[in-house]
Order: sequence, then structure tokens, then C-alpha cells
Amino acid sequence: MKIPETLYLEDNALVILDQTLLPNKTEYVRLTTLEETWKAIKTLQVRGAPAIGIAAAMGLYVHMKYFVANGHATEIEAFTAEFNRACEYLSTSRPTAVNLNWGLEQMTETLKANKEEGKSVSEIIEKLEQTAKKINDDDTEVCRLIGEFGLTLLKPKMGILTHCNAGSLATSKYGTALAPIYLAEERGFELRVFADETRPLLQGARLTAFELLAAGVDTTLICDNMAATVMANGWIDVVFVGCDRVAANGDFANKIGTLGVAILAKHFNIPFYVCAPFSTIDLNTKTGADIIIEERDGDEITTQWYEHRQAPQGIKTFNPSFDVTLENFVSGYITENGILKPPFLAK
Ligand code: MRU
Repeated sequence: MKIPETLYLEDNALVILDQTLLPNKTEYVRLTTLEETWKAIKTLQVRGAPAIGIAAAMGLYVHMKYFVANGHATEIEAFTAEFNRACEYLSTSRPTAVNLNWGLEQMTETLKANKEEGKSVSEIIEKLEQTAKKINDDDTEVCRLIGEFGLTLLKPKMGILTHCNAGSLATSKYGTALAPIYLAEERGFELRVFADETRPLLQGARLTAFELLAAGVDTTLICDNMAATVMANGWIDVVFVGCDRVAANGDFANKIGTLGVAILAKHFNIPFYVCAPFSTIDLNTKTGADIIIEERDGDEITTQWYEHRQAPQGIKTFNPSFDVTLENFVSGYITENGILKPPFLAK
């Protein structure tokens, strides 16, 4: 695969591929402050549920390292207070994906366990680095397994529809919804993938099309409102999407437009699968009604990507970043633990 790396730690910095510049520029940005990490997540320079969980963990580690290096906290209590403040701040960057808080919780567990063992601040910093790297490495393995389970549903020459970007760029590697496609490609399946462009931020056009093309997968880009036509034409055998949070009853939030795709898939009798790490299943969220949906600036609809504004000044906008699809539209949840249906048992 010739897809650029999503993010990594290097020389005391969190380095991210700036996804707002894709597909035209492949440019990496070094983040060393908490505010820079927060902004990179907020503005979708790094995005996709698993990737923002990893970015938050790595950004937190980098911040705490500088905090100590600058002499702000040699005592564990001052260190802990700043750590908690930083976690709270990062968790406000994007509300919908459970992975963001999950990544921060893994880091908090590391702090707690090492504090209890009486470890020094510098030893704890080392442990935090190890945890952040482990979250990244584990994600690669989880995505590979999602790929293996997803592959069992595929046959050569199948047509697949996907929405938004749940690929390598949204994770440490491979992706969730795209992982089975990459494995199938390696095994000579010759799939035909249809990528929804995904209004308004065009993750399908800018990111999914970019990475599938880089991997040599037969990919056709369509506007979101063409999904019904490709299904009606009989070109789609299965739908794979990613997700940001699965509630305990199986309702799930994913990129705005996913609900429409699910309704269409049901109409055309096409299997519809949600691909996600098991950690995306949030047993503390009972149903989809309890999921907080991020709302973004209306400029993303009226202005962004256009040379000139394409809506009258003063028009009202509504720009939810995600929607909730009910469990009864889902054929199965492809996780690293297999293809599941609710109730999901705690791991
Ligand atoms: O707003 P984004 O680009 O972060 O939204 C991404 C999605 O909705 C993905 O489908 C989801 O996060 C899963 S990524 C493996």
C-alpha cells in the first residue's frame, strides 16, 4: 500500500498528515502544544474516530513531557492536576466519537496504575509514551482483524459502496470499512468500490478516493445523491461503513448521510455492515438518542471548497456532522472480535 502514514510520534512532537490538504498536498505538521493538538482535531487535520483517539493520547503525552521539561511539575500532584485539565480540554475538541475519550481513558489508567506503584514523574512520562504508542500499534492489529472478518463476506468481483472515509487515513493503518477491501485486493478479488463524495467536507472524494486509488483498487467516485442509482443499477452487493459510536442497543452514529445509505440499502435488499473496533461500542450509551451529535459551522455548506460563496448571504444552515442509524438497518457489526449483533457483551 502506498498510502501515507496518518500520524506518529517523533522528536517530542505529534506528527500528523494534514488531511485538510489532501488530495492535492501530502504535508505533515508537527504539533507540540496541547492547543495545537486540540485545533488539529477540531479542524479535521486529523480525523476519523480511531485516529482522533490516537492523536489525543499522543498529544497528551507530548504536552505532559513539555510541561515537566519546562519545570512546571516535578511533584506528582501538580502533574496529575495538569494531566486531568489537559484530558478535559482535549475531550471538548469533538464530541461524537467515543474513541477520543477512550484514548484519553487509556492514558488516565496508565497514570493511575503507575502513581499507585509510587513511580516518579519521569518514569510516568515514559509509561505514558509507551501507552500512546501501544494504542497506535493495537489499532493496526484491530483493523487488520476487522479486515479478516469483513473479508469472509466478500466474493471476487463484488461491488461495494462506502460513505465518508473509514480507511487507513482514519486509523493507524488499514482502516475499518476499507480494511476488508485492502485484504481482498491483496488476494486478487478485483472488487469494484463506489465511494460517496460525502458532503459537505468531501471525505469520500478527497480521502477515500485518494487512498483507494493509491492502493490500486478499482474505485468510482459518486455524489451522495447518486447512491440510489448505483444500487438500482444492481452494482452494489454490500455496504461497508465505519462509525463513531455504537450504543448498547446497536444504534450507531456515523458521518452525516449514513442514515440515508442505510435506508436505501434496506430498500434494495443490500446487506449493510458497520465496521469498528470493539472499543467503539459504548455500553454506557443506551440508545442512539443518547449520542451527542456534533454541529459544525454553516460555512462548510455555503462557502468551503468554492471559489465564490454558493448560497445567499443570510441563509440559515443546519450542519450536523453525524447522523444516527437504528440497529434494525444493520446486518452486522464487524469488529476484531468477529461479526457481532447486540446485545454486545463487555470485552
Ligand atoms: O468527521 P470525520 O471525518 O472525523 O468523520 C469520520 C467518520 O464518520 C468515519 O466513518 C468514522 O469516524 C469511522 S473512521 C474508521
